[in-house]
Amino acid sequence: MSQFAGDLRRLRENAGSPPYRELSKRAHYAASTLSDAAGGRKLPTLAVTLAYVRACEGDLAEWEERWYGTAAMNRVAEPEEIDEEIPYPGLNAFGAHQADYFFGRERLVEELSRHVTGRRLLAVSGASGSGKSSLLAAGLIAAVRRSGRDRTILRFTPGPHPLREGAIQLAAVSGGSAVRLHGELTADPAGLHLRVRQFLARRHEDAELLLVIDQFEEVFTRCRTVEERDAFVAVLLHAVQEPDSRTRLVVGVRSDFIGHCERYPALAAALRPENRVDAGPMTAEQLRSAIMRPAIAAGHQLEGALVATVMAETAGRHGVLPLVSQAMRRTWQRPHGATLTLAAYQAAGGITRALADTAEEVFGEFDELGRQQARDVFVRLTTLGADGHDTRRRVPAHELDPAAAPVVARLIDARLVTAGADGLELAHDALIREWPRLRSWLSTGRGALYLHRRLTEAAGVWERADRDPAPLYRGSQLDEAIALAGGARLTLREHQFLDASIQAREEETARAHRSAWRLRRLAAAVVVVSGVAAASVALAVRERRQTLALCW
Ligand SMILES: Nc1ncnc2c1ncn2[C@@H]1O[C@H](COP(=O)(O)OP(=O)(O)OP(=O)(O)O)[C@@H](O)[C@H]1O
Ligand SMILES: [Mg+2]
Repeated sequence: MSQFAGDLRRLRENAGSPPYRELSKRAHYAASTLSDAAGGRKLPTLAVTLAYVRACEGDLAEWEERWYGTAAMNRVAEPEEIDEEIPYPGLNAFGAHQADYFFGRERLVEELSRHVTGRRLLAVSGASGSGKSSLLAAGLIAAVRRSGRDRTILRFTPGPHPLREGAIQLAAVSGGSAVRLHGELTADPAGLHLRVRQFLARRHEDAELLLVIDQFEEVFTRCRTVEERDAFVAVLLHAVQEPDSRTRLVVGVRSDFIGHCERYPALAAALRPENRVDAGPMTAEQLRSAIMRPAIAAGHQLEGALVATVMAETAGRHGVLPLVSQAMRRTWQRPHGATLTLAAYQAAGGITRALADTAEEVFGEFDELGRQQARDVFVRLTTLGADGHDTRRRVPAHELDPAAAPVVARLIDARLVTAGADGLELAHDALIREWPRLRSWLSTGRGALYLHRRLTEAAGVWERADRDPAPLYRGSQLDEAIALAGGARLTLREHQFLDASIQAREEETARAHRSAWRLRRLAAAVVVVSGVAAASVALAVRERRQTLALCW
């Protein structure tokens, strides 16, 4: 890690040692975040590293690889600390070595173990932070190891070069050159299948390879070339679909990326709902066991009031596992005897303070633009209650500014926001109540927030109605929205909705002018015609009078 930080500092020197304030402008991260990144106390996040490198005009691909290498080395050191001391991994996923502390998912682990003996391809899906990686590592992998079956287990995440990663991992267990294997996998969809068969050829006939590919969504988010993505998907499917296959594949994938998988017909067919296990929310009983049993397994007790409080704050809600794990970890880290107490939990701040602290910390990492984007995201993820009682609001991904994607990714990573098939959501209502910064955003300029929210909703209705003009704004409502647009961050769709409303109003005004003009012309014509008619009537009357006079 210190070498990584040292090299970051050298990169900055080679770029002419720009001051951190200058780098901050280029990188869009706070100067203190950037100088911490090169300080060497802890590994900076990937996003901060890349922003730093970009600002110093370094090679992004090279640094991304280096970051993953350094992160992997640091991960090796981490388990000891968590394993022996603290039975709650906090915001990290459970590893296979932490299976003794992994509770609440017994039924799902059983289901997965059963499926994985009957099928060759399986997906564990669920929202971000729902516990997929933990279920795969501390649940499935640990259960397969316990089963005593002859399984070689390979677990990896795709990263930017999934084929290369696959080649490295497989070569590490099967021997031989990763470079050659990479060439084989790239050239031939049968490459993986053949290598696995070769590797297992002299083993017992029941021996198989269990390939666990976690964070499968990285195939779409991090793999840069379509060719590599296609080739990766092709070798995987071939390896599990051949009649003499000895490979079983389990992928962990965020449910908002299932749609992406469906772009590959063969993958979509393979990931049919019956081949998927969903890591949904726990039942109250499962949650209770996830709260209590890690401590009990580590030889401790929990005060009843502590369990009741955590349950009251979390049961029945989505996305709470990271919060439980983090709050319990903080509680454990406080001085304690044989029993974890409610007092210790409260002193550690419980779920609410953990969340608010994380939110404030992550917010502090962003530069000015990032902060504006983060504010917009948090406010959009809140339903404004008429009585001031605000709650979480689930938002489809397209409602958020695409330019804010890196900020959103960081919020998901920090477990402040969860992403699932139905959109994005705040991790917990407590964030709204307890994070002073968000509370102040929501209380100042509330009238404008209401206006904005109505505009968002109207734009959504307009889009869903195939841009039918009926819901467009008119009159004073449109004037208010135009005034709002001057000060608020509108999405592309909201802008389009306003533009369409303005255009419709202009067309209506032009139409009204045209018809007024036509009316005036008509009126003028009527006047002329009626003038002529009146004249002819007068003439006729006069003629008639004259005729009558002659008769008399
Ligand atoms: N059975 C469990 N008991 C207690 N905490 C859990 C359990 N499973 C997961 N967690 C906690 O929930 C959080 C999310 O877990 P994990 O990383 O496995 O989720 P994920 O679905 O893989 O997330 P992502 O979508 O970010 O990959 C972590 O903080 C983890 O410690
Ligand atoms: Mg995961």
